[in-house]
Amino acid sequence: MSDFQEYNKNNLKSFTLFDNENGQSYDVPIIEGSEGPKVLDIRDLYKKTGMFTFDPGFTSTASCSSEITFIDGHKGILRHRGYDIKDLAYHSNFLEVCYLLLHGELPSQEDKSKFQNVITNHTMLNEQLVYFYRGFRRDAHPMAIMVGVVGALSAFYHDSTDFSDINQRMIACHRLIAKIATIGAMAYKYSIGQPFVYPQNHLSYSENFLHMTFSLPTNNYKVNPVIAKAMDRFFILHADHEQNASTSTVRLAGSSGANPFACIAAGIASLWGPAHGGANEAVIRMLEEIGDVSNIDKYIEKAKDKDDPFRLMGFGHRVYKNYDPRADVMKKTAHEILEELNIKDDPLLKTALQLEEIALKDKYFIDKKLYPNVDFYSGIILKAIGFPTSMFTVLFAIGRTVGWISQWKEMIEDPVNKIGRPRQLYNGKNSRSYEEVNRREKKSIFQWLWKK
Ligand code: ACO
Repeated sequence: MSDFQEYNKNNLKSFTLFDNENGQSYDVPIIEGSEGPKVLDIRDLYKKTGMFTFDPGFTSTASCSSEITFIDGHKGILRHRGYDIKDLAYHSNFLEVCYLLLHGELPSQEDKSKFQNVITNHTMLNEQLVYFYRGFRRDAHPMAIMVGVVGALSAFYHDSTDFSDINQRMIACHRLIAKIATIGAMAYKYSIGQPFVYPQNHLSYSENFLHMTFSLPTNNYKVNPVIAKAMDRFFILHADHEQNASTSTVRLAGSSGANPFACIAAGIASLWGPAHGGANEAVIRMLEEIGDVSNIDKYIEKAKDKDDPFRLMGFGHRVYKNYDPRADVMKKTAHEILEELNIKDDPLLKTALQLEEIALKDKYFIDKKLYPNVDFYSGIILKAIGFPTSMFTVLFAIGRTVGWISQWKEMIEDPVNKIGRPRQLYNGKNSRSYEEVNRREKKSIFQWLWKK
């Protein structure tokens, strides 16, 4: 952060904007990060010109500076704190990646053990929270339960909501990373009417999650190491992805001073949407709907048809205009899992592979740079492990919690932090006078509602 502030102070380079209307020019400072595109520092633009910038969807706007994750979408690069995602996915483990995201460095052996201890000692939930689950209908979507229960944590852990205190801040981070897996497993157990299973501290993060999800009081689930490895990889691949919709939601909520549990609940709500975390669920539904490889051409045509709302789920990304490196790891892991579980000729995998092959050769997808994203193969892995589709986004949320909380912590500790408050291009009515109801013209706005 300090380099960029120094650079900005010296104002070494600038970009000139010219206003044709009044013949004035404005110099906008250019800031350079350690990698990636330079940015125009427009913080003074409104003060100097009386104008806002217009960028719906933030396609050209950096909302913050961050040291956590770097993406080069054109080259298909994703790095956390400088480490390539594939190195982390193949050689590290989820808790080590959590430490890296949170603290900026990979842990020493001693710190790794201490961190593991801290997390495992926070995996249990306040027993009172069990009653909170009972307030939900059994057929509630587990993401609805996640939003509610995570938001409710702030009512249970008052001793970690004063984030101006570094100790409370760290305890909140540890609690969220540890408890989110327990909350997710309990949401699943509740939805299928089975008793909750308590965490086991001798297991790794991913083994413990599988145990809490699949064990029964009558039958202990024996964790298969290949499945545990795949689960761990899934969590690593979802751990962070810079300023995506849910992370930006967490940062925006946090910028007002909201407590970390409430901020993560907001992030979970944002993740739920099918254009974001809900896509892995949508991919499976789509592959099932396609049903057979003989139908692929028809669905490719539907995806290309502007008048058809159908999109190829698991394809395309706001940032990646090349193969998503996470999709590559997911594809390999899907093969490993199906082989381990002796699932031969899985029809979904067969359809997915064919679909990918055809789409990657199609001019529409080539021209628009639409490649498989992380969600394209992840559903196949999760389904083979035994998760119902309604749990897929929950699993994403479990992996992403560390990214959200690391980004939240970075924001809180950033001296430049300000409440997030975008402006708008107002396009509504100009000033007009209030009219009494009997003088108003009959309008048909609610025709569809009244049906009369
Ligand atoms: N199938 C067919 N056409 C597509 C697809 C797709 N999956 N994705 C984008 N396009 C087309 C759009 O119709 C648009 O065409 P146009 O230029 O002719 O209007 C063009 O490609 C650009 O698409 P946008 O929606 O403008 O791109 P944006 O960056 O806003 O959207 C998104 C990215 C939301 C991921 C989009 O590609 C999509 O909806 N994909 C399917 C859902 C999905 O897989 N989401 C998961 C994202 S990854 C994650 O959250 C972990």
